[in-house]
Amino acid sequence: MSKPIELKNVSKTFRHPMKVWDKVEAVKDLSFSMENGEIVGFVGHNGAGKTTAIKMIMGFIWPNSGEIKVNGKDPGDQEVKKTIGFLPERPYFYAQLTGMELLNYFGRLCGIKGSLLKDRSEKLLRRVGIFDDRNRKLSGYSKGMLQRIGLAQALIHDPQLVIMDEPMSGLDPIGRREVKEIIRSLKKEGKSVIFSSHILSDIENLSDRVLIIENGVKKHFGTVSEIIPPDRIRYKIEFDSPNEMKDAAFALFKGIRVVSERFIIDCDDLDDFNTKLSAIVEKGYPVLNAGGVLPSLEEIVFTTENTEVKQ
Ligand SMILES: Nc1ncnc2c1ncn2[C@@H]1O[C@H](COP(=O)(O)OP(=O)(O)OP(=O)(O)O)[C@@H](O)[C@H]1O
Ligand SMILES: [Mg+2]
Repeated sequence: MSKPIELKNVSKTFRHPMKVWDKVEAVKDLSFSMENGEIVGFVGHNGAGKTTAIKMIMGFIWPNSGEIKVNGKDPGDQEVKKTIGFLPERPYFYAQLTGMELLNYFGRLCGIKGSLLKDRSEKLLRRVGIFDDRNRKLSGYSKGMLQRIGLAQALIHDPQLVIMDEPMSGLDPIGRREVKEIIRSLKKEGKSVIFSSHILSDIENLSDRVLIIENGVKKHFGTVSEIIPPDRIRYKIEFDSPNEMKDAAFALFKGIRVVSERFIIDCDDLDDFNTKLSAIVEKGYPVLNAGGVLPSLEEIVFTTENTEVKQ
């Protein structure tokens, strides 16, 4: 059985948008492969090359050198494309369509119709949490709702490989958790998933393996614990507190700091993080940000040994 995705020494150079004589090396000599049923997270700072790599895998742009195989075939292959679901970084949809109409449109493009399409659309709308908004026009959807309908669109043809560029972007904490659940359920169904994020906490519990890209270069490829020793992750919770609850907020735990009117608590480890997060949510404080953060990706990248495990 072919691997869902295989890249060998792939490079992509763009002409510089401002200086025509200059080049931007967006992806440099990138090699990695994923196994069937695996979740791979692409992590890297803004401009690291994540979207460029994804666009090449999707066959939207071509590498200058190297080889890409998707299910053993060229990325442009029509049969291969039928097996891929894709959520772009900035999904654009016709604003005049309703959510239901959009799924209808994409479903029909993928050759699904009739009751199968209706059933699948309704199930997906429920799965992404916008069933009640299915008959509203997309022009009235919020950023998070558009992200959710984009996710439903990516799954309408029940693809075997799902590629999502920043699927959590624009979502509130509940939305992020729901998308993570969807990604987990896709794995349970035996699907392979690639998704990108520049937020480590989005990928740490979710990905089987992580590809860290920096300035277009693969820095590491492996499981999170292979790449980042758990003691290097600093867990942190940022939460808000309504005026009347401010004093009580300080009494929640020792060591609460206030930065720019945000309450911040650092946690010892993942268990401590989960306990504190549950307490904050239970007491009704709005959580602004929560997760494992690295002081900086570079620090990890430059101070750990090469931990790549397999290609
Ligand atoms: N069409 C293009 N023309 C010129 N340069 C481009 C083009 N697309 C991407 N680049 C450049 O390639 C580099 C990688 O961009 P890419 O969009 O792949 O990064 P990214 O990791 O997805 O970043 P982000 O987290 O901001 O989405 C950047 O320097 C970017 O400016
Ligand atoms: Mg991007």
